[in-house]
Amino acid sequence: MDRLIIFDTTLRDGEQAAGGALNTSEKLEIARQLARLGVDVIEAGFPASSPGDSKAVSLIAREVRAPVICALARAHPDDIDSAWEAVKEAERPRIHVFLSASDIHLMHQLKKSREQVLALARDMVARARQYTDDVEFSPMDASRTEPEYLYQVLEAVIKAGATTLNIPDTVGYATPDEFGELISGIFVHVPGISPAVVSVHCHDDLGLATANSLEAVRRGARQVECTVNGIGERAGNASLEEVVMAVKTRQNRFGVTTGINTEQIYRTSRLVSELTAFPVQPNKAIVGTNAFSHESGIHQDGVIKMPITYEIIDPRTVGVPASSLVLGKLSGRHAFKERLAELGYSLSEEDFTRAFAAFKELADKKKEVTDRDIESIVAQEMRTVAEVYHLDCVQVSCGDRGIPTASVRLIGPEGQVLADASLGTGPVDAVYKAINRIVGVPNELIEFTVKSVTEGIDAIGEVLIRIESERVTYTGRGADTDVIVASAKAYMNALNRLIAAKKAG
Ligand code: KIV
Ligand code: ZN
Repeated sequence: MDRLIIFDTTLRDGEQAAGGALNTSEKLEIARQLARLGVDVIEAGFPASSPGDSKAVSLIAREVRAPVICALARAHPDDIDSAWEAVKEAERPRIHVFLSASDIHLMHQLKKSREQVLALARDMVARARQYTDDVEFSPMDASRTEPEYLYQVLEAVIKAGATTLNIPDTVGYATPDEFGELISGIFVHVPGISPAVVSVHCHDDLGLATANSLEAVRRGARQVECTVNGIGERAGNASLEEVVMAVKTRQNRFGVTTGINTEQIYRTSRLVSELTAFPVQPNKAIVGTNAFSHESGIHQDGVIKMPITYEIIDPRTVGVPASSLVLGKLSGRHAFKERLAELGYSLSEEDFTRAFAAFKELADKKKEVTDRDIESIVAQEMRTVAEVYHLDCVQVSCGDRGIPTASVRLIGPEGQVLADASLGTGPVDAVYKAINRIVGVPNELIEFTVKSVTEGIDAIGEVLIRIESERVTYTGRGADTDVIVASAKAYMNALNRLIAAKKAG
């Protein structure tokens, strides 16, 4: 059976999703989890796009060993040099060069002729090839490019040394039959195609990214570019978990295997959702909270009798934790550590101490502490951003009579106690205004979501927010059994990110 290469672009195309910016330590944490998941290639970023991106790619290249580490570059000498600078310390570095190929892009964006673009693609691939033997080329907007011209570009870049040819459906316009024919045509009409790997990169504007990628696999593509939870530019990319589980579940249709450790899928999805602050919709295939819950009586009856009646995937295959009672208020450090290890976490001593304190606090309020609660605690206590201001206490008074009022106490950068109070249109608004009076960093709240981690009246509430300052977005996350406290924690988390980013310039 053929091996399908899983190329993960969560840290590059995924991070291009509006409002999805990650800091360097968050990117490293995701990259480490992607390595545990077993992806073959991590596209770690686009170094020429910003010094921050370049720094993150270099760090990942140095720290994350097993997968190929890839950096994206436009077909421009400086971009290619920066991409190499960033990935050169990787065990297996790759440079990914892209250049538009469709007439629409050539005419309206690049203002170059087909001949000029072909020559540029060839020369820039040759430049990348001077640095490494692993060079990928993407003719952007390939699905809207005239096939004859696409074949010529691909032939030229193969001759210049490209080893992977990626065919992007950049605007998510193709349909599965059409995209499949394009891939088949490439195998027939591009001289020298055979040693190269044909890859696909599909966007989800028509909800067809996974279907298009899978059809391409049936037609011979052996690399799929995808992202965790399908995040990415506009409507996103083909979702990694969908592609991987489709080829595994329907192996008879696709005839390929992947190197993915599927039991890490759920955890990876949670991590990406938490760090990007993009919630996963409940009905999302494979990783949504409802993906394995059976509501109708007939279905429940069937599943109890024999799971395969209504379940095509055993939830354990993708690492969905059983929402069983795991620990309670009498559980000690040892039991908590063991449970964390079973869930696949290995925390630094400092993070563990904070997580254990948070667990004890929760166990005092909540009778049953489940795996999902523990995941939520870990996500909160694994610090990916240093705290400049720490939330010490928050108090609100609200209701349908009178004006919502909040008082807050923070611990400042020098350990000083800072307190203030404010009125607001609601309790969360009052808390945020009181915090702003202390911290004094102008910003605008642009998104606020709250959801419960588990069922029940004593469930943890998880708040994800996005704030904007000088046209840059910062995410924040907070969890607590009290949603006002969770909201305050989320705001502090976002503010600390904003302050850290400003300090780092
Ligand atoms: O969608 C696209 O065409 C891309 C390329 C850079 C591969 O993201
Ligand atoms: Zn893309």
